[in-house]
Amino acid sequence: MADDIGQDGGNPLVVIGDKIQPTPHLVALLQQLRTENNLLNPEDRIQYAVCNESSEVALALRKHLDSVKMILIGPGLAGNAMAVARMLSQKASIVLVVDPQINPLGTNPTSIMQNHKNLEKLGIIIIMANKATGKFFEPIVQDYVLSGITPGGDLESMSPEERSQLVDQRLDSVNKFPSLPETQRKVSALDDMDQPKKWAEAIDPDLPTKTVILRILNSARYGFRSRVEEIDKAVVMASAKTIREIVTACQIRQIFSKTGKGTIDQFWRHSLATAFYAKLFSLPADPAVQTSQQKTEFARYEFDEKDVKSIEELRLWESFDLSDKDDSFTSGLLHDVGKITMIMCLEDSLKLITTLVDSEAEETKAEGKLWANSIIEIERFLMKDMDHQIIGARLAEKWELDPSIEQVIGQHHNIHEHSPSVVKLVALADLAANCLFPYPATEEQHPFPIIFACIEKSIKDKSGMSIDEAVDEAINQDVFEDLVDVLSRLNISEYLWELVDFKTFFKLCYLTSPKIKSTSIAFLQQTA
Ligand SMILES: [Fe+2]
Ligand SMILES: [Fe+2]
Repeated sequence: MADDIGQDGGNPLVVIGDKIQPTPHLVALLQQLRTENNLLNPEDRIQYAVCNESSEVALALRKHLDSVKMILIGPGLAGNAMAVARMLSQKASIVLVVDPQINPLGTNPTSIMQNHKNLEKLGIIIIMANKATGKFFEPIVQDYVLSGITPGGDLESMSPEERSQLVDQRLDSVNKFPSLPETQRKVSALDDMDQPKKWAEAIDPDLPTKTVILRILNSARYGFRSRVEEIDKAVVMASAKTIREIVTACQIRQIFSKTGKGTIDQFWRHSLATAFYAKLFSLPADPAVQTSQQKTEFARYEFDEKDVKSIEELRLWESFDLSDKDDSFTSGLLHDVGKITMIMCLEDSLKLITTLVDSEAEETKAEGKLWANSIIEIERFLMKDMDHQIIGARLAEKWELDPSIEQVIGQHHNIHEHSPSVVKLVALADLAANCLFPYPATEEQHPFPIIFACIEKSIKDKSGMSIDEAVDEAINQDVFEDLVDVLSRLNISEYLWELVDFKTFFKLCYLTSPKIKSTSIAFLQQTA
């Protein structure tokens, strides 16, 4: 285990991801390390750590980043060896030792060859267990561990084509990327002004999606006097835009449903909350400037009068200069699609990330502090300069999504002065959604839900004050220091706070959170 290693004072470290047993390849590697160590001064000697599980490999890497020179992934490692190798391939030199009996590269010669080629392109050294002798390890230990040759490939300096290629290779190539479902493709090609009949033709053959649309539209929130039974009627009654939103939600959920119920639900709650917040922040709340469509959409949140007043006073919608092409709801819904794609293509990635989050969250809790590290930083740590934005943007490119949505997916964590309005909008909505449903950190780990719980507790003690005043006071006094500290550690772009003062923003999020929560959960259940 990684914890067994003494305080490393810069000694090179070899991480062995395998079961401890006297298999010939492990004996050969350890003998080679011993031979080298006999020739070295104590301060230069090579250390090693054995990890049985893929998540332990990630943890060892996190704790001893600068020292890890090489990672051996052997047949005894619990977890998906190929996924771990691909994910960490830019972090340290990887040697993948393969047992020919249970070859993780595939079951038929074609897939074995293809995977072999893909992994080699990432600089991973693949060796059959019976060939991993001392002779094999000698030059590897020399080059990678002692001379410190590091794997190449820097995303920043690559051309767009090279970048896309590398993303594909690390995600096990093109065929594993989910494809865009037929109905979604047809609906994307439609214009909001197209005849309702055309919409029906696109959706009717897809019975599950049609059922969900009708189920949602017939729920109390939409309040139609008569039941909606047909898509062409639905388009007229609820607007093409609403139908488009529901179709996207259904289709994306379907694509990723194989990733495991717990994960997809948590991911989906986060995405829906981001979508509903993004729409809310961009909708005019002032009846004097609302179009009839906006009036209906705003009413669907079912805010009570005093909430409407706070939203109206803030006039947040005026901060965003959105074009007709920008779709705040769909952008919010899809912003993190790279996270779930990564989990789908790199099976062990979620486990690796959550292990690091768990360990960091526990450490900071023990120090009496709130954990505040962004998931994207952890992804970049594990995959060098790759993260869910890059993976998501690659998927958006393959799906030929609207360029505005592709920008949101690819840049919502890299806000700068000139970021498009819709990207800034979704970045704010993402922060707001994290107060309710973070992903993949849990509500017990993420600092925002913890801060929200503190606000809730402190307003209970403020009897005699209006809710508005109580929340104001809680944010300005009771949680102020924690909030400022967390925001600085999360490295939130200052350009977001140019749109709205952070205290006003969190107040708005807090006041609107019960309705966003119930709306998201209702939608989640209806699209299941
Ligand atoms: Fe994100
Ligand atoms: Fe997000």
